[in-house]
Amino acid sequence: MTDGPKVLVTRLIPDAGLDRVREACEVDLWEDELPPPREELLRRVRGKDGLLSLLTDRVDDELLDAAGPQLKVVSNFAVGFDNIDVPALTRRKVPAGNTPGVLTETTADLAFALLMAAARRIPEGVDYVRAGSWRTWGPMLLMGVDIHGATLGIVGFGRIGREVARRGRGFGMRILYHDVHPASPEDEAEVGARRVEMDELLRESDFVSLHVNLTDETHHLIDDDALRAMKASAVLVNTSRGPVVDPEALERALRDGEIFAAGLDVTEPEPLPADHPLVQLPNCVVVPHIASASRVTRDRMAEMAAANLLAGLRGERLPTPINPEVYE
Ligand code: DGY
Repeated sequence: MTDGPKVLVTRLIPDAGLDRVREACEVDLWEDELPPPREELLRRVRGKDGLLSLLTDRVDDELLDAAGPQLKVVSNFAVGFDNIDVPALTRRKVPAGNTPGVLTETTADLAFALLMAAARRIPEGVDYVRAGSWRTWGPMLLMGVDIHGATLGIVGFGRIGREVARRGRGFGMRILYHDVHPASPEDEAEVGARRVEMDELLRESDFVSLHVNLTDETHHLIDDDALRAMKASAVLVNTSRGPVVDPEALERALRDGEIFAAGLDVTEPEPLPADHPLVQLPNCVVVPHIASASRVTRDRMAEMAAANLLAGLRGERLPTPINPEVYE
């Protein structure tokens, strides 16, 4: 379509969403594998009515000024929106949307996969076999830590944290959680979770899995002190946002055996270069921010991002607004 509203889509997303946007809009699509460089983003967003952004695009005053006053909506292809300056959008009465709910279970699956891979040293085992080092069954070979019956500490007991807890229950784990907002007694009972202070969670847990939003309060929440408080046999899992963990503190803790292992889907910086110590350490399993990357889930995210974008362009309330205050 060439005479619909003008929108910028900052990366190739699944057809499940892109086709809908194309049917209704004049689409400027950034097709490169890498995000548009800042200058290019600012140039391309000029005069657009809608922006479908990714977590790699910073949406702030500068970008909104570059876009112009006709911009009606920003739709982020992610549940997390720390890339978006929400007050800047709200000041301009521009609604922004995200993709909550549809990626909860897929993300929880990956968090649990990382937990298991780090605990049972799966990547080390794979490397060992590939290197031709496997010569016999070894009673001392690649010993890890047990998952069943262990204590799982969930930091941030929202949708994803609760699904990770549910998976833990399936493995007979004891569930602790820390969250500023206590869950209802019914929700706690459903997964047998108990709310504790952060220091107790760190001290007691065999596995600590992070599920908080990145805010000023959660930036480097896992620092030297937090890592020192954890058990030497503990495994840290991060599928939230990289800067929730201080990377230098984690490197030291893994190297010095202050904790047993880590599984990271997100890092600071992101991406991590291949020669970064966290990539090279054998007790650190790093994957490239793929927690929501199943085909079905990415289709659903695309559909949802398209639905938010199109609703905003029509002047309707977004199905999942980040800043519902724009409607007050
Ligand atoms: C999100 O949606 O915030 C994830 O980090 C990517 O799926």
